[in-house]
Amino acid sequence: MGNLAVVGLQWGDEGKGKLVDYLAGQFDAVARFNGGSNAGHTVVIGEKKHTFHLVPSGALKGKELLIGAGVALDPIILQEELFLLPDRVREKLLIDGRCSLVSPFDKELDIVLEKMRGDSAIGTTRRGIGPAYAMRALRLALRASDLLVEPNSSAPSQFYSQLGVDPKGFAAWVEESKRVVTGLVGDVGSRIVDIGRAGGSILFEASQGTLLDLLHGTYPFVTSSHTIVSYVPASLGIPPSEAGEPLGVMKCYTTRVGSGPFPTEIQDLTSDKIRSVGNEYGATTGRPRRVGWLDLVALRYAITLNGVKNIAVSKLDVLSEVKEFRACIAYRHMGSETRDFQRSLGHLHEVEPVYESPFSMQGAKYDEELPAQAKKLVEYLEVALGVRVSLISHGEERSRTIEL
Ligand code: IMP
Ligand code: MG
Repeated sequence: MGNLAVVGLQWGDEGKGKLVDYLAGQFDAVARFNGGSNAGHTVVIGEKKHTFHLVPSGALKGKELLIGAGVALDPIILQEELFLLPDRVREKLLIDGRCSLVSPFDKELDIVLEKMRGDSAIGTTRRGIGPAYAMRALRLALRASDLLVEPNSSAPSQFYSQLGVDPKGFAAWVEESKRVVTGLVGDVGSRIVDIGRAGGSILFEASQGTLLDLLHGTYPFVTSSHTIVSYVPASLGIPPSEAGEPLGVMKCYTTRVGSGPFPTEIQDLTSDKIRSVGNEYGATTGRPRRVGWLDLVALRYAITLNGVKNIAVSKLDVLSEVKEFRACIAYRHMGSETRDFQRSLGHLHEVEPVYESPFSMQGAKYDEELPAQAKKLVEYLEVALGVRVSLISHGEERSRTIEL
């Protein structure tokens, strides 16, 4: 088994966490490569629900857990998360020393910036992710390895004290963070190369989705890191040849949290139904997610961008409760139709979706076997998207997964 990279093909919350947990058994380690505690990856085993923000979703499978250099690490959130997990999880964790840290002051800045934007606020998770990556770009970030050397870099402290942050508060946060990461910091890139040399393999876990990518998503309504498969080697510090095959994950409808264009959004009884059946509330913020029909135009863009040949489709059970199924096959804008997402990016908020409604998924029941309606959906997606559907998820519990 080679390396595999699980990436989201929509605006996040595609069900990556569940899938990573499901697949982790076949790998030696699971590595997070982007984002930070803005992520909310849900894994359900029996009656128990776990939400991971920073710890890779392979934690419950006892795998080696790696947090790559490209992750924005909030040590306090990490501590809270580890506290809820068995001690052996901590023993399996390695954090790259190059990870930029997210401080409480980055979170304050996130809130101030959102307020400042007023009506054009991004709707961030307020986890300080944008400011932390901005600090990295300004060369003011404190990195995980800085916590382990004396004296710690004073540049971030000086920067924040100019903004009115109490230096004592900053120093206290540094001390606490140091306690959290001591014994966990190392070189993730070298570890991945070593695992590979010993014949092992790694599962790379993305957070957020392709359309939230800082460069290639619906800018400025995006996150501040890269969510696409090309970021795997850059973030982790490994050669591109080790980045593995991508596996795209998509829901059979669309959701988005936060602001920004969303051509297939619906706001009616059907979206209410999908939201309640699919429990479409942010795992990190609890916000109700915006809901819409499947968008094949956006999906084709995401598939091309990631070079995806295999996909996993999630939440099929939700459509069993809904009378209609719709898929957007083109966008209409100023009298003409296009299937080109890239060319629509500049006016995405003005396009009108062109739908087809090839069948209904209502009443489909999932046992071991795929019901006839789901087979139709699989065939439809394979033709429309030019990919192979290799996994189906029909419920949040780990066992509600069908391999095709
Ligand atoms: P930030 O990543 O907190 O800066 O938020 C920027 C945008 O990305 C907002 O629209 C968030 O709702 C969205 N976002 C960030 N993380 C996630 C996620 O894990 N799932 C879905 N949306 C996310
Ligand atoms: Mg999520």
